[in-house]
Amino acid sequence: MADNFDVKLDNKTYIPDPSYQANSALGDYKKAYAEFLSDPDGFWAGKARELDWIKPWDKVKEWNWPNARWFCGGKLNISANCLDRHVKNGRRNKLALIWKGEQGKEEIYTYRQLYRAVMRFANALKKLGVQKGDRICLYMPLVPEHIIAMLACARIGAVHSIVYAGFGAEALHARIRDAQAKIVITADVGVRRGKLIPLRSIVDDAVKNSPSVEKIVVLSRERCPVELYSEMEVDFYAIQEGVSDECPPEEMDSEDPLFILYTSGTTGQPKGIVHTTGGYLVGAHYTCKYIFDLKENDVHWCTADPGWITGHSYIVYGPLSVGATVLITETTPDYPDPGIWWSLIEEFGVTVFYTAPTAIRMFMKVGEQWPDKYNLSSLRIIGSVGEPLNPEAFEWYYRVIGRNRCPILDTWWQTETGMHMITTPLGQPMKPGFAGVPIPGVVADVVDKEGNPVPARQGGLLVIKEPWPSMMRTVYNNPDRYKQYWNQIKNWYTVGDLAVKDEDGYIMVLGRSDDIIIVAGHNLGTAEVESALVSHEAVAEAAVIGVPDDVKGQAVKAFVILRQGYEPSQKLVSELTYHVRMTIGPIAMPSGIEFMDKLPKTRSGKIMRRVLKAKEMGVDPGDISTLEE
Ligand code: WT7
Repeated sequence: MADNFDVKLDNKTYIPDPSYQANSALGDYKKAYAEFLSDPDGFWAGKARELDWIKPWDKVKEWNWPNARWFCGGKLNISANCLDRHVKNGRRNKLALIWKGEQGKEEIYTYRQLYRAVMRFANALKKLGVQKGDRICLYMPLVPEHIIAMLACARIGAVHSIVYAGFGAEALHARIRDAQAKIVITADVGVRRGKLIPLRSIVDDAVKNSPSVEKIVVLSRERCPVELYSEMEVDFYAIQEGVSDECPPEEMDSEDPLFILYTSGTTGQPKGIVHTTGGYLVGAHYTCKYIFDLKENDVHWCTADPGWITGHSYIVYGPLSVGATVLITETTPDYPDPGIWWSLIEEFGVTVFYTAPTAIRMFMKVGEQWPDKYNLSSLRIIGSVGEPLNPEAFEWYYRVIGRNRCPILDTWWQTETGMHMITTPLGQPMKPGFAGVPIPGVVADVVDKEGNPVPARQGGLLVIKEPWPSMMRTVYNNPDRYKQYWNQIKNWYTVGDLAVKDEDGYIMVLGRSDDIIIVAGHNLGTAEVESALVSHEAVAEAAVIGVPDDVKGQAVKAFVILRQGYEPSQKLVSELTYHVRMTIGPIAMPSGIEFMDKLPKTRSGKIMRRVLKAKEMGVDPGDISTLEE
């Protein structure tokens, strides 16, 4: 357990142009936070009132540790908030969705078109016997029909469970079984780097021994009739023939489940995180509008996949509830070349861009000549999520993509939290390496394992002290696991991350607390040592683990990917070791450095240190179903 370790913090700050705060919905952060503190329920009620409710709530929240209910008694439908609201309010012909595929393919949907498509597919699902509360598993490529299927489930009250289409049959099977899915929606193929990935055959394997599954809905990527292989299969478009395109939204209780999402699991068995309707929508809408400052005329591009929480909240429910234009693309960041993403920003005039540190570091590695070719002047705000954005990557992102102009929102949150929790709100000074401060509505702190606050600049555990609307409600089939989040320290939500706070209350997230390395009694966060390595000009990406050491208990072992133009050598090993020594101190000096071409990552881009560790120790790595190929 990590407490009491000193962290060296850099004091560099970046000040955004004052116009950002002046034009933002949030306004002055400190004022907004004080408003929240003076009346938390009133604050959230105000945010909830910006949405459409069929029946208003009787009570803002009921907190009965460890269970929370939000907007009790309220009735609403989330698809109606994302579609009907805009169609009725003069935005029907506004672009909702732009899809860009490989080889120049593209498609667009106005809000009205999306609304119609969702209602048709919702009626088709009803025809298949889907009822409110049924679980529907989506295993789809990132095409418009994926978004349509999500919204159609939400419209009729079916609970979606999206499984990222990069997962294999075993991982899919486990998730279908755990959720007892009635229907699986998939496509014949996905496309990646010009290659076709057969999805349907993976589903065929995955549904074996899954008695809950009644039908498999298959989308033909080319929209031609699907050749059906079994009684179970139906064609995504054929089932829509003859159905009405009117489908009134199901009246959902605020606490009715909206979706289950299995966490990516860098640390073990996946957990089915359950989110409900009212609180989740309020969280997604609030953070899009007040934190991302998303406005109707924004073109928002979040590079995640709907298979992750980031895609749920910041491709679909948040941006559409705000009425923005959402860009989705199947393209990979380096195919056909590493300029593709920047070309899309130029082409579609993307204004708000949201990606992950793993992508940023990949782009750093291939060099700035790629983004430099494109006009990125449409960008207003750039964001990051998923892992610590180390200072080196922050500076590169700010300079090369943000062109020294766009504020960076390094957003810390989790599948479990549903929405952004910690970031640097527009207008506040940005400190590279620090995610920032708790957003208004969130009470977060860094404490020791007894729950006592730790002094500034000393590491500890990140906790959330008060419930928030978009918090998970339970772990599906595992209420005890849910409870664990809340009883590690008193009544607070223990996040599972190590963090450190500075005098201004800025929080730096150091990594998962189970990734801690203890060298001679000193606790080191993996992220800290990795940041030090990446700050060396030769290093593109690094991962460190603890290995047993007779003298020190544990020693640091580093795995390093070099930037283009650098070759592995003994001299470089010495140089990097020295560099870490000078940056953090002798205690962090790696006892070994291994050069790699690739690091093992989850499909969402997080480094799986336990796989490196298992390999190093010659032991079984355990469940690796979430590992990228
Ligand atoms: C874990 C949650 C939230 C969507 C993506 C991941 C790490 C996330 C940051 C950040 C440092 C971060 C944490 C967290 N994480 N964002 N900005 N800085 N670390 O969702 O798969 O549920 O993972 O990702 O360790 O606990 P997830």
